[in-house]
Amino acid sequence: MIGAALMLHTAKADEGMWIPSLIGKNYEEMKRLGLKLSKEDLYSINNASLKDAVVQFGGGCTGEIISSKGLLLTNHHCGYGAIAALSSVEKNYLDNGYWAKNQSEELPAKGITALFLLNISDVTAQINAAVGTAKGAEASKLMSAEIKKIEKEANKDGKLVANVKEYFNGNQYLLLTYKKYTDVRFVAAPPKSLGKYGGDTDNWMWPRHTSDFSIFRVYANKDNEPAEFSKDNVPFKPKKHFPVSIKGNKEKDFAMIMGYPGRTNRYEVSYGIDIAINESNPAVVDIRTERLAIMKKHMDANKVVYLQLTSRYASIANYWKYFIGQTEQLKRLNVVGQKTKEEAAFTQWSVAKNAGYNTLISDYAKMYADYKPYAKHATYYTEAFRATALARIAAAAEPLEKALKAEVSKDSIDKLVKNLKMARQFILADYVPVVDKELFAAMTLMYYNNVDKNQLPNIYEQVILNGAGNETVAESINAYTKYVYKNTQLLDSAKFEAFVATPTYATFKNEPAIQYAVSFVRNFDKNFMPKIEAMNKEKRELSKQYAKGLMEMKKGQLFYPDANSTMRVSYGQVLAYEPQDAVYYKHFTTFDGLMAKYKAGDDEFDLPQQLLDMYQKKDYGMYADADGTLHTCFITNNDITGGNSGSPVFNAKGELIGCAFDGNWEAMSGDIAFDKKYKRTIVADIRFILYLIDKMGGAHNLIEEMDIRK
Ligand code: ARG
Repeated sequence: MIGAALMLHTAKADEGMWIPSLIGKNYEEMKRLGLKLSKEDLYSINNASLKDAVVQFGGGCTGEIISSKGLLLTNHHCGYGAIAALSSVEKNYLDNGYWAKNQSEELPAKGITALFLLNISDVTAQINAAVGTAKGAEASKLMSAEIKKIEKEANKDGKLVANVKEYFNGNQYLLLTYKKYTDVRFVAAPPKSLGKYGGDTDNWMWPRHTSDFSIFRVYANKDNEPAEFSKDNVPFKPKKHFPVSIKGNKEKDFAMIMGYPGRTNRYEVSYGIDIAINESNPAVVDIRTERLAIMKKHMDANKVVYLQLTSRYASIANYWKYFIGQTEQLKRLNVVGQKTKEEAAFTQWSVAKNAGYNTLISDYAKMYADYKPYAKHATYYTEAFRATALARIAAAAEPLEKALKAEVSKDSIDKLVKNLKMARQFILADYVPVVDKELFAAMTLMYYNNVDKNQLPNIYEQVILNGAGNETVAESINAYTKYVYKNTQLLDSAKFEAFVATPTYATFKNEPAIQYAVSFVRNFDKNFMPKIEAMNKEKRELSKQYAKGLMEMKKGQLFYPDANSTMRVSYGQVLAYEPQDAVYYKHFTTFDGLMAKYKAGDDEFDLPQQLLDMYQKKDYGMYADADGTLHTCFITNNDITGGNSGSPVFNAKGELIGCAFDGNWEAMSGDIAFDKKYKRTIVADIRFILYLIDKMGGAHNLIEEMDIRK
């Protein structure tokens, strides 16, 4: 582990998802690493800065603006749901790709939004003043009221989005204001075989050859303001857009990323990690393995089912593999051991300095020990019970059943009926009868087999296993499943409308799917919810103290808060790594490597004929690297996580060099502990993206509207 490994690390590998408005203290280091921009170029509230070209895309991803006409680049896996929804068996943009040749060919992507950050301001003092010396429930109440007030004040005319968010586990509060654009249109994407090349086999792994991109455009009204879709809307004129560099990059080159990381748990303690490794992660993986197998069987058999379920399937599969990797790396890197040491040092420091945190770690230990017996059940409840559309709709009917029993006012009942109708409509988008029914039987059986017997809902004893004959549990569950799907009033729309027209407690109580869901929901709410809520409350308090204590202990060092779906900045460099002893991974992949993985007819590694022809021609033009090859992807040591998908990766001058789309296998524990040696960000090289737009899509219109730096 000496020589090369050490050499790789003389350069500072960069941990930290920094708040863009507060990067002051990091700036010197950024410059030392090569940054040529000023602080104001990155983040400014008065002048156009790069933050104005970065958006939260579709609620859970990142996108960047790459032209003066609102053109937006993000990942293929971020556009996936929208592309699938726009596709049909005849016009299958997911399988065949899509390249709009002019604005009239750009397709409204319903439900997709682009959130532009306007301002960040610190409201910690105001919130602390409002809470004063109050404690417990009273403090929470005062705090929520103050937060509501601040958000309302910041959005007086109702045209913005204003959120107060918690940082450093509740030690700091920032107010963020945004403009939300809701007319976003689909412009271009490569065929799925390229946008998702390597599928789940290559997902979360390097070396990688996926060209994980899709292109959208933000539209605005004639005043450049957000507006619902209208054919009178025009392309949005951004304050700032990224120029695109095709000069390429070398190892150690400065690289920076701005985006919307979703969530990290870097302050998690050893006891919580133990539960993840031994209880919750294995349960998620087991359940998802089963769900995916059932979904895939039906998707393979029917193209319509495939288009309907593929987006849901992809997101289940993504985190199925994520949890396999996280468990593996938490163990391999002995994160529990590392954290145990840090925790002991913390307690020692507190005792020595009389800092007031002497029992914090043992309080954590006790809290997690109390929770551990329910951890698996909590996972089964969300992952298995709620896996089917029918169970989710029936669970949404539970509050109504309760209200009918309590004979509340007609107004309240009407409101609950309305909620149920809305929830049902939403859930039905993923409903495929054969798949749902098979999942229902499989999940009901898994729940029975794996959840502690004395924690099971009583419907198992009273109904499910109470059928006639000496059947096995599986047979009883199959018979029960048939009965539920045959008799439910919730799936068929005509039946459902009649069922809720004049709802009564008697009909609700005996509706088989509602009976099933009510039993699961009430069992969970009564027996575990109070424990889980108590734990969450205590955890909030402990982790606030822990973060505060660590900052006191390491006074003078720079701290960054856990990711919380707000904009962050990460800086680092293009960097190779050694995944294991004696193995060296280069920092980039090529078209040649992509072709080497090609398997005709394969689910994950097939390629379109057009690309095979393009490879024969080798017409790389201005997109070729100085080494003569065409680079597909590269890696950097930037600190990102889920939600950063689609983020701009830019060079020292602020020019776009790629689009971030994944993390690497050896650092899958990164959301809990950043490992400087292994953690990498996987980036789609902008030159391969442009090559596909140009030579595969022939979308010269798009190339021309970009500001390309050669
Ligand atoms: N792992 C990537 C992320 O979470 C998503 C990749 C999608 N590709 C796939 N094969 N599921 O950002």
